[in-house]
Amino acid sequence: MKLASRMERLGTETAFSVLAKAKALEAEGREIIHLEIGEPDFGTPAHIVEAGCRALREGHTHYTPTAGIPELREAIAGDVARSRRIDVGPEQVVVTPGGKPIMFFSILALVEEGDEVLLPNPAFPIYESMVDFVGGRPVFVPLRQENGFRFDLGEFRAGLSGRTKLVILNSPANPTGGVLTAEDIAGLAEILRERPDVYVLSDEIYSRLLYTGDFASIASERGLGPDGRTIILDGFSKTYAMTGWRLGYGVMPAELAEEVAKLQVNSNSCTSAATQYAGLAALEGPQDAVEEMLSEFRALRDLIVDGLNGLPGVECITPQGAFYAFPRIVGTGRPADELADLLLDEAGVACLSGTAFGLHGEGHLRLSYANSRENISRALERMGEVLSRVAL
Ligand SMILES: Cc1ncc(COP(=O)(O)O)c(C=O)c1O
Repeated sequence: MKLASRMERLGTETAFSVLAKAKALEAEGREIIHLEIGEPDFGTPAHIVEAGCRALREGHTHYTPTAGIPELREAIAGDVARSRRIDVGPEQVVVTPGGKPIMFFSILALVEEGDEVLLPNPAFPIYESMVDFVGGRPVFVPLRQENGFRFDLGEFRAGLSGRTKLVILNSPANPTGGVLTAEDIAGLAEILRERPDVYVLSDEIYSRLLYTGDFASIASERGLGPDGRTIILDGFSKTYAMTGWRLGYGVMPAELAEEVAKLQVNSNSCTSAATQYAGLAALEGPQDAVEEMLSEFRALRDLIVDGLNGLPGVECITPQGAFYAFPRIVGTGRPADELADLLLDEAGVACLSGTAFGLHGEGHLRLSYANSRENISRALERMGEVLSRVAL
């Protein structure tokens, strides 16, 4: 086939390829423990499922306004205003099928060929993929274990240039579980206030999955709200265990929201109607399921971090948010991608190489611990058997 040359610049999300490989092994009769894909193993809370079903029964089976049903845009604006302590209007909200399209649409709308985009590394791979795709130039700020996977503010400042158009932040972070503290955010805001020409994409999809302290958003900082130049990306996939429903949103300057809605009308028209009603119930209904999930994730985090630190050649710091552990595996003497393959083939444990998240992910694995205690314990045991054979 003669594809457009831009397709060569499009990356992928390795989690989906490893999931496919693990499924193929299962089809051959192997038993695999899935720690590769980033999704809660809880079911969607019953009242949310019921709201989605009710919407279908009541005839919400048609197109909706492109940017989302007014009630949901209103509810999201209220929720984001409360949680970030800022003013937000529904005209600033665009509802999308998952949070991912907000990356796609905002990078497409803002980044010109040759523009630089400053982003963390390791990070969610779609940021880099999209920046490359539109002809932008990714500039990486390394995240290191020694620093709790937080930015070094000096390196962040040094990464900005006259060509920087956009900065991408992600806290709590995938793949590291690192969190930017209130002081980090204040420091970043101070730097960014000197650069009013730079936009900010703040990926806050894990904002409710935080184990200590209050969530700090760049959007709460003076001059950096979504009424000016920050785009908040958030959604329902992780918080309400709704990955398969496909529901997320962006909160941004109203002028940009109109352009992002235009990209949506050119691609998927709108988000599924019933899914949007389910999302409304998620925001307006009881939040106990979120709290229960978070407290189970905390127990799973402690279980996996403890277990990983007991494995030969492995060293893991305690993640402060999200549901990923990002252990350093340098002591095993194996490159990360080789070790991930070995663990899948020999231990039946599917996990990701840190390099799936960028060059600075070398020396690490990413394990999603949104799984059962039993599976985590069995995975650790099997990893221990393989590593005691192969580690230095
Ligand atoms: C950092 C980050 N942002 C955004 C997303 C996208 O989530 P979704 O499109 O399922 O809402 C993910 C999913 O893994 C993620 O890890």
